[in-house]
Amino acid sequence: MKLFSAHIEDLRSLYISDLRKALDMEKKITEALPDLIESSTDEELTDAFRTHLRETETHVQKVESLLLRNVGDADTETCKVIDGLVAEASDTIRDVTEFSIRNISLIGAAQQVEHHEIAVYGTLRRWAELLGLEEDAAILESVEAEEMDADELLSEISERVNVEAVA
Ligand SMILES: [Fe+2]
Repeated sequence: MKLFSAHIEDLRSLYISDLRKALDMEKKITEALPDLIESSTDEELTDAFRTHLRETETHVQKVESLLLRNVGDADTETCKVIDGLVAEASDTIRDVTEFSIRNISLIGAAQQVEHHEIAVYGTLRRWAELLGLEEDAAILESVEAEEMDADELLSEISERVNVEAVA
C-alpha cells in the first residue's frame, strides 16, 4: 500500500491510481465473499456467491497483470468505497436474524458491490481506450462483463427470494 499521496497530473497517472484502487477492491471482495457464502441459507444464492468468488480471484490476477505490465509492480491504493460497502454487508449479517430476510439483504449488499464494480471497470475501460491501451481495454471489458453477469444473476435470484421473504 502507498502511504504518500499520489501526484496525478495526467490521465495515465489517474488510470494507474484507479487500477491500484480496483486491485484493493477486488482483494477485499475475495476476503468478504466467504462471509456471504456462510450466511446465505439459499442454495442457489450460495452457489452464485461461490462462483463469483472464483471469478473475483481471476479479477485480482487480471488487475495485477495490468499493473505489472504498465508500471512493473502490483501495489494497491485504498479503495474507501469497498470499505464502506463491506462494512454495510457485515452489519447486515450481524443484524438480520430472520433467514429469508437475511438472504434478500445479502443480495442487496452484493448488488451494491457489483454496481460499484461495473462503474469502476466501465470507467477504467474507457480510459484505457483513450490512452491507446487496446489490450488493457479488452481485459477490463471482460471483467466488466463478468460483474454485469453476476449482477444479473443476483437480480434473477432475488425475484424468487424476495417473494419467499414476503410470504
Ligand atoms: Fe470483480
